[in-house]
Amino acid sequence: MNRTVSVFGVGYLGLVTTVVLADKVPTIGFDSDKSKIRQLNQGFLSVFEPELEIWMKRNWVNLKFVEEPTMAVEKADIIFLTVDTPNLSDGCQDLSRIKDAVKRIGSLLKKSEHKIIAIKSTVLPKTTEKVIIPLLEEASNLKESKDFHVCTVPEFLREGHAIEDTVNPDKIVIGSNDSYATHMMKEFYEEFHERKTPILCTNFVNAEMIKYAQNVFLATKISFINTIANICERTTGADVEAVAEAIGLDKRISPFFFQAGLGFGGGCLPKDLNCFRKFSQQNEYNPILLNAVNKVNEAQPFRVVRMAESYFGDLKKKKFAVLGLSFKPETDDIRGAISLKIIETLLQKGAAIMVYDPKAMAKVKQTFGDRISYAHDIEECLSSADCCIIVTEWAEFQSLTPKLFRSLMKQPVIIDGRRTLNRADFKDFVFYGIGLADQDHLLREDVLAEDPDNRQ
Ligand code: UGA
Repeated sequence: MNRTVSVFGVGYLGLVTTVVLADKVPTIGFDSDKSKIRQLNQGFLSVFEPELEIWMKRNWVNLKFVEEPTMAVEKADIIFLTVDTPNLSDGCQDLSRIKDAVKRIGSLLKKSEHKIIAIKSTVLPKTTEKVIIPLLEEASNLKESKDFHVCTVPEFLREGHAIEDTVNPDKIVIGSNDSYATHMMKEFYEEFHERKTPILCTNFVNAEMIKYAQNVFLATKISFINTIANICERTTGADVEAVAEAIGLDKRISPFFFQAGLGFGGGCLPKDLNCFRKFSQQNEYNPILLNAVNKVNEAQPFRVVRMAESYFGDLKKKKFAVLGLSFKPETDDIRGAISLKIIETLLQKGAAIMVYDPKAMAKVKQTFGDRISYAHDIEECLSSADCCIIVTEWAEFQSLTPKLFRSLMKQPVIIDGRRTLNRADFKDFVFYGIGLADQDHLLREDVLAEDPDNRQ
């Protein structure tokens, strides 16, 4: 492929994009955070993502990280924009970083160069037409569709699977109102993915809408199965695992992304759900379904605390071992992590907490400091604990044996927030699991009655 590309913003998404693009084309990564660029030039990664380091080393000859934006615009045929779009406290989207990046790019564009600016950042419908293109035109004093071209190419990668999702995506969506941009991007992606990936071409607003619709659908699927789990917990003998497995086999439903647990966290689903709800309200539509999805998710983490109260009553001075802190396995990311809410609530109730996670310990330490204790390994975490709560389903927790728990804990009490362990292996344990109405350990009626969902 005889093109050069650049990536503006080498945070999580930008870095994965840069490293994978460099597999086939010379790729320049730019970020306004100079220390990040210096670290990358020394080969240092500030995030953990499986295979990222291997791919970075492998594609190093095709990679360049720069502290100044000039080369990233001048040398590139396609400029990918991957800066993040956080939410403001009122749920509205904060476009300040994207605006800065767009102005920078615009000021470096030249007449009739026909560069393509491809927006990968998640932006609300209409943002490309109403904000990004006008800013590019103003900063460059040039015309879109004539001197330069714009398209929206939303990203669907998952943390923890980012490389495989970028190399082999389910689909590519290209949104533009400019046929040149659509044609050039389609050609680029066809070549890049060797015509193996379905490519859908549409307009700007549909591409932007697709990104949000997909994320809020995924959120809905999780809140749906968590609702079934919560009903199962009140129905003696019921188990959401058996229910989800069976209904997931219906092709219209599918078994994927259908795991009941403590709700969805992370830097994307909660943020995008809230932002899209706000967008909907601003467009005079009350998104009742999405509001409910959010409410279910807000209450879900506290179920494990209720389970603990069901057994112990008062949690004061009880020693908890919390296994799993990252918002999901295979990442060290704790943005929107469910573990943070659970730890905070247990602390308020006077519990003593020791935590363990294979990757996220340093980040959690920055948040809680000496308010909790940090274990070097699973064994230390479980030692003399009254109760173990599994919050994130890391693979290494799945193989933990009853013998290990029994030999280390003060009491054999397990609360499985992600249905990581096989209940049948833990017969003589006090065992609570999300969506499981175990005959032996039913939740106390007063605890059930206080369920946050009953108050909504
Ligand atoms: C999500 C989407 O899945 C990606 O397609 C999208 O590109 C990305 O957001 C984004 O917008 O950038 P990600 O945030 O990496 O990806 O994480 P997910 O795999 O979606 O998991 C989100 C949360 O849902 C996690 O807390 C996870 O534990 C929870 N989850 C997931 C469940 O509770 N049950 C499930 O069955 C699946």
